[in-house]
Amino acid sequence: MTTSTQTVTRDGIRIYDPSDFAGMEKAGRLAAQILDDIADHVVVGQTTGALDQLITDWVAAAGATSATIGYRGYQHASCISVNHVVCHGIPGDKTLKDGDILNIDVTVIVDGWFGDCSRMYWAGKLSRKAERLIQVTHDSLMLGIEAAKPGNTFGDIGHAIQTYAEAQRMSVVRDFCGHGLGRVFHAPPNVLHYGRPGSGAVLEEGMFFTIEPMINLGRPETKILADDWTAVTRDKSLSAQFEHSIGITAQGAEIFTQSPGDRFHPTMRD
Ligand code: MF3
Ligand code: CO
Ligand code: CO
Repeated sequence: MTTSTQTVTRDGIRIYDPSDFAGMEKAGRLAAQILDDIADHVVVGQTTGALDQLITDWVAAAGATSATIGYRGYQHASCISVNHVVCHGIPGDKTLKDGDILNIDVTVIVDGWFGDCSRMYWAGKLSRKAERLIQVTHDSLMLGIEAAKPGNTFGDIGHAIQTYAEAQRMSVVRDFCGHGLGRVFHAPPNVLHYGRPGSGAVLEEGMFFTIEPMINLGRPETKILADDWTAVTRDKSLSAQFEHSIGITAQGAEIFTQSPGDRFHPTMRD
């Protein structure tokens, strides 16, 4: 038997070994594959509960575990957040109608490693304003990932996202953030999607975390519904989110949840 020591920064952020990337790649790939496969099932008339059931089945078929079932009492393998739902939408008997936009967020555990990602889908015909929101949210995540490299700070990531989204006259949700992950679901740091350049902890090779900006067409404020999970925009404006799990390398960031079928980017879906 061997003992291993863990490196943790003074901000409480765990530094993983180069050999740990393989585990995250496997977990991330499964989560992303599930998000690829669900795309064809997002159609008018489908219920969010039926989508979640498919995801539940696919996680089991892969021999993996859902990280969300049983997490703080949550009972589903996905969060499905429709229209003005910002995040943590609970799948159920809600039927998708023409023009609905939705985020599907899946977290799986494979060999003890967590893969967490989400992306946007829509049913029927996408409106121009929803398309713009989805595009801007996607691009803000990718700009955040571009800022994720050794020597930069978490504030640089947040700043990249915020500057871009606000320049498009959209707003960044402040009430939810990305998070460290790896052998655990949610770990330090809180990855804010807004911020000042040079603020926050310095990024180091071996940090694993998510970036998952939620962008609203209207104001940034949210509230939680009586089910204690569903977060919605207070002004009922449309909200979108994209999420990747990444690992910091010597050069920049490796995306663990890259779409195997290249279906992550909204304009590449059809
Ligand atoms: N996957 C979400 C995240 O990105 C967390 C969902 S927790 C749940 O962190 F319990 F709501 F599923
Ligand atoms: Co996450
Ligand atoms: Co997630």
